[in-house]
Amino acid sequence: MKNYKILFVCLGNICRSPAAEGILKRMIKEQGLEDKISVDSAGTSGYHDGELPDSRMRQHGSRRGYKFDSLSRRFTTDDFYNFDIIIAMDDNNYHNIMRMAPDPESERKLYRMVEFSKRFGHDHIPDPYYSGADGFELVLDLLEDACEGLLDKIKKGEL
Ligand code: 4NP
Repeated sequence: MKNYKILFVCLGNICRSPAAEGILKRMIKEQGLEDKISVDSAGTSGYHDGELPDSRMRQHGSRRGYKFDSLSRRFTTDDFYNFDIIIAMDDNNYHNIMRMAPDPESERKLYRMVEFSKRFGHDHIPDPYYSGADGFELVLDLLEDACEGLLDKIKKGEL
């Protein structure tokens, strides 16, 4: 199996992408793939630079046994060179990242998270920031499902 560096990207890097990072990291650990796959996350905005994930996201995650503790940082053009796979949570994130791509090789690294969904048919991972508890639970359901699909594709050599 090839080695992969994966970067999840949302707007604030305090809800969706740090949760995706924590979920995928746990799956990688459970499957003994730590020396093959590394994971990070970033936000297109920089609004929350240096902050821990949103306390609601951390609480909902901890009920499922996750520890979301990465610090928010802004996505940069260098990320196209430092990562193999860049995964956007929604269409706004996708287009904002695509606009920054320095070359066609970089463009080919970019995916939408829902492309990896197995059980769900959502067309994006909804921003939970202004939602209630249900929104956070839905995001976790969608991310767990898509992280499974992502790992399946990696293990089959499809990425
Ligand atoms: P995220 O959620 O993109 O999943 O981290 C958001 C966090 C903060 C804001 C928007 C979305 N905000 O506008 O501050």
